[in-house]
Amino acid sequence: MNREDIERLSAELAALKCKTQKEVEEARVRFLGKKGEITALFEEFRTVAPEFKKEFGRTLNELKQKAQARIEELKAAAEQSGPSEGPAQDLSMPGDDFPLGSRHPVSIVRQEIVDIFRKFGYDVAEGPEIEDDYHVFEALNFPPNHPARDMQDTFFVSAGHLNPLLLRTHTSSVQVRAMETMKLPIRVICPGRVFRNEAISARAHCIFHQVEGLYIDEHVTFADLKQAILLFAREMFGADTQIRMRPSFFPFTEPSAEVDVSCNICHGKGCNICKGTGWLEILGCGMVDPNVLEASGIDSKKYSGFAFGMGLERIAMLKWRVNDLRHYFENDLRFLHEFETATEV
Ligand code: PHE
Repeated sequence: MNREDIERLSAELAALKCKTQKEVEEARVRFLGKKGEITALFEEFRTVAPEFKKEFGRTLNELKQKAQARIEELKAAAEQSGPSEGPAQDLSMPGDDFPLGSRHPVSIVRQEIVDIFRKFGYDVAEGPEIEDDYHVFEALNFPPNHPARDMQDTFFVSAGHLNPLLLRTHTSSVQVRAMETMKLPIRVICPGRVFRNEAISARAHCIFHQVEGLYIDEHVTFADLKQAILLFAREMFGADTQIRMRPSFFPFTEPSAEVDVSCNICHGKGCNICKGTGWLEILGCGMVDPNVLEASGIDSKKYSGFAFGMGLERIAMLKWRVNDLRHYFENDLRFLHEFETATEV
């Protein structure tokens, strides 16, 4: 054992480079392990002549401390720069969370309504959101300049035209297309997005969703309409639900009615959701006006029918008591996650 050995090891330690924790461990074994080079020098120390023991002992201890410090330093650096290789990784650890999205409350309500009417034998029909004046108004018995057009403030896509393009204000346009193309009898529901030029507030929005329905056959009566709506209301809101009809007006139905369901929150006692009345308005309906049937080439002497339409956000509001329409369109994840458990797969 001599001074050169110590100096060589000291220089090697200073120049030592390790990328991984595995390499650090190998270096530790090489220098400080049971059979390591520094450990070997301690063995040799026993044979050093007594007059040199003091000085050698000190340098040797310094070397050992230096080696330990250097190994610690390399270990810390390797830990920082990444996980160790090999079995140091815990393969049984749970994987990264991959959050699944949830269905939008409007989609959940639409699916429920569609499922109910499918059971009653209705088909689902869809149509364009950009429609022409004819399918949204003209064929539905809204003559040009008829004041009833003001009931639905329209976004026009092209103006000044005989049959301008516009964003549909209701999905009744899809019913017109069904009457034009489908074979009788017709039983369809038309879910879809509709647009009205309304100022956005808690109670109104320029976009919302509807499901409208149409049934045309021989001998269809108002009693059939009432029965269909009652069955729907009981499937949707519970078996003890009552309905009531109030006279109303729509250009495309005669007679027309507005339908209320008994408030399933206070069960008729009166609460702030039903504004103390015990009833909640859910849809508009009526017997298809003969003019509407004739406009689509259906013989109104032989056939009759009923139609109804409801807003999905309104139904969702009643179901979940979220009373600000804007929540349905802002895509705030905190709001959307509320419906995770409501999602039916
Ligand atoms: N189309 C009407 C609306 O959007 C709803 C409705 C449909 C009323 C069918 C009666 C019959 O307000």
